[in-house]
Amino acid sequence: MKVAVYGASGYTGRLVTAEALRRGLDVVVSGRNASRLREVAGGAEVVVADADDVPALADAFDGCDVVIGCAGPFSQVGDPVVRAAITAGAHYVDTSAEQLFLRHVFDTYAGQAEEAGVCVVPAVGFDILPGDMIAHLAGAEVEPLDELTIAYQTNDFDMTRGTIRSSLQVLLDGDLAYEEGRWRSAEGLAVKRTSFTFPGQSEERPTTRWPGAEIVTVPRHVRARRVEIITDAAVFGPELVSLMQAPADQWDAIIGRLPEGPSAERRPVSEFTIVAEAVGADGRRATGVVHAHDIYGSAAVFTVEAARRLAAGEAKAGVLSPAQAFDPAAFLDGLASYGVEWSVVAGGK
Ligand SMILES: NC(=O)c1ccc[n+]([C@@H]2O[C@H](COP(=O)([O-])OP(=O)(O)OC[C@H]3O[C@@H](n4cnc5c(N)ncnc54)[C@H](OP(=O)(O)O)[C@@H]3O)[C@@H](O)[C@H]2O)c1
Repeated sequence: MKVAVYGASGYTGRLVTAEALRRGLDVVVSGRNASRLREVAGGAEVVVADADDVPALADAFDGCDVVIGCAGPFSQVGDPVVRAAITAGAHYVDTSAEQLFLRHVFDTYAGQAEEAGVCVVPAVGFDILPGDMIAHLAGAEVEPLDELTIAYQTNDFDMTRGTIRSSLQVLLDGDLAYEEGRWRSAEGLAVKRTSFTFPGQSEERPTTRWPGAEIVTVPRHVRARRVEIITDAAVFGPELVSLMQAPADQWDAIIGRLPEGPSAERRPVSEFTIVAEAVGADGRRATGVVHAHDIYGSAAVFTVEAARRLAAGEAKAGVLSPAQAFDPAAFLDGLASYGVEWSVVAGGK
């Protein structure tokens, strides 16, 4: 199995490349900067292609089973990579989590992917694959849903520069809400859940709206009147808050002075918990929880596993959310050896 990793020189691209090589895959290391790519190639083939050059990208991906997109922000650089993967006849996954990019991919490429016989499954990193899957598993217990809340909690989460850039891009783009069975702009909408009790904690934590891309994917496979995504407000640490308050034209310079991402010692300590709380139209409830350590390491594992499953022919052609492409329970069970734990409890009313 041959995979191309585009954006292999970034913090996450390097982890994805290392995971793909560890699993014995034939890897093409691709991106815009030859010397940075050579530093991370570890003997793999290096192919340089600019992110806005679709023919060069399609040449780079020629003969690959799957393209893994890791160059972001995706709403700035992601579109030609998807287009080139389809042109090259390769399946596609990525680490995107930007709502408007995802919506663009679903709206633009569904027909072309089907015609080319390839699967395009964006957003298979730590957000949003586990959130999309646990929402599906909890939702299936009590569908149709009146309300679905997806709640994120992270600990020791030192964001990479790329994550910060993409998060700020989402702020600039504006986020979406899913209300009364349809998407709308979230502008001016108050978050309904301003606090949440996460598993293993006795007290409610303050929460705030999180522009999670599950807003785009989950309503495609869970029948819900309303979907809300929230996060423990503590994710917005003082550095991120002061960055958000700085003028947008200074963001790049400020981010450039930050560490590239968590150190090798800090990364494994980080952890995420994602809770999906489903309330059926008849009042019945189901709660799903997924948890793992090593946020960026998990993103690399999920991404390579999704690529492997696409190459093995597990999904049908088209643009699909993670829970549409793969059997969610089987996928999450398959990650147990990486420390991924999940459960769904269906309770009463
Ligand atoms: N959902 C998840 O779980 C998850 C996890 C991790 C990352 N991500 C996302 O993945 C993306 C990358 O994150 P990161 O942590 O790897 O960031 P990073 O370390 O800053 O790396 C960014 C990568 O994108 C490439 N790139 C940026 N602009 C480009 C352009 N115009 N043309 C070609 N390549 C370009 C960079 O290439 P150079 O090296 O040449 O600059 C580098 O390879 C971000 O969007 C982030 O939000 C998501």
